[in-house]
Amino acid sequence: MTEQILDADWWSNRYLQQQTGWDIGYSSTPLQTYMNSVEDKNCAILIPGCGNAYEAEALLEAGFTNITLLDISPVLTAALQLKFNSTSVQIITGNFFEHSGQYDLILEQTFFCALDPSHREAYVKHMFSLLKKAGRLAGVLFNRAFEGGPPFGGSKELYEKLFNQSFTLKKMELCYNSIEPRSGTELFFILEK
Ligand SMILES: C[S@@+](CC[C@H](N)C(=O)[O-])C[C@H]1O[C@@H](n2cnc3c(N)ncnc32)[C@H](O)[C@@H]1O
Repeated sequence: MTEQILDADWWSNRYLQQQTGWDIGYSSTPLQTYMNSVEDKNCAILIPGCGNAYEAEALLEAGFTNITLLDISPVLTAALQLKFNSTSVQIITGNFFEHSGQYDLILEQTFFCALDPSHREAYVKHMFSLLKKAGRLAGVLFNRAFEGGPPFGGSKELYEKLFNQSFTLKKMELCYNSIEPRSGTELFFILEK
């Protein structure tokens, strides 16, 4: 089997060919519920591997003022530039692992599972470095296996082991409010630096 290289071209081709099965078309209920609970509207938020970034639209609507979107695909980010034109949202085309910044909150949704599993330790390390003291990484992770990938699956046990090394695990539980197609297959988590 030929090894897939999940680089910018690979992801751009998915967008160009409209093979975007992960894209649900709106801000998902678990993230929406969590975002509604965040009180500081001026906190610095990063959404890495943001895709069409429906969450950013919801955040803007809720009055959040400091939102950064990051994605490796220039095809996608060109579309985002148009979509968020005339808003305060910052859009960056780039590789997460090369991104630098300091954030209060990083939101995760189908980004972790899009990365080759060999990058998981680096994901944890880099997320940690991007957060300010007491900053949080929160969102959803698949609690199931997949054939092939992406997406690449995982389990609660695996994630706990992975994140416990550096983060304080505030929450990691079966998601009660997943969208219907993902019901029973995702975990909602909050990690604190
Ligand atoms: C499965 S999609 C998820 C998109 C979005 N989070 C959603 O839920 O609709 C994964 C996204 O991560 C981006 N991506 C993949 N590897 C990346 C990397 N190393 N750095 C930044 N973005 C990356 C892809 O271009 C793609 O938009």
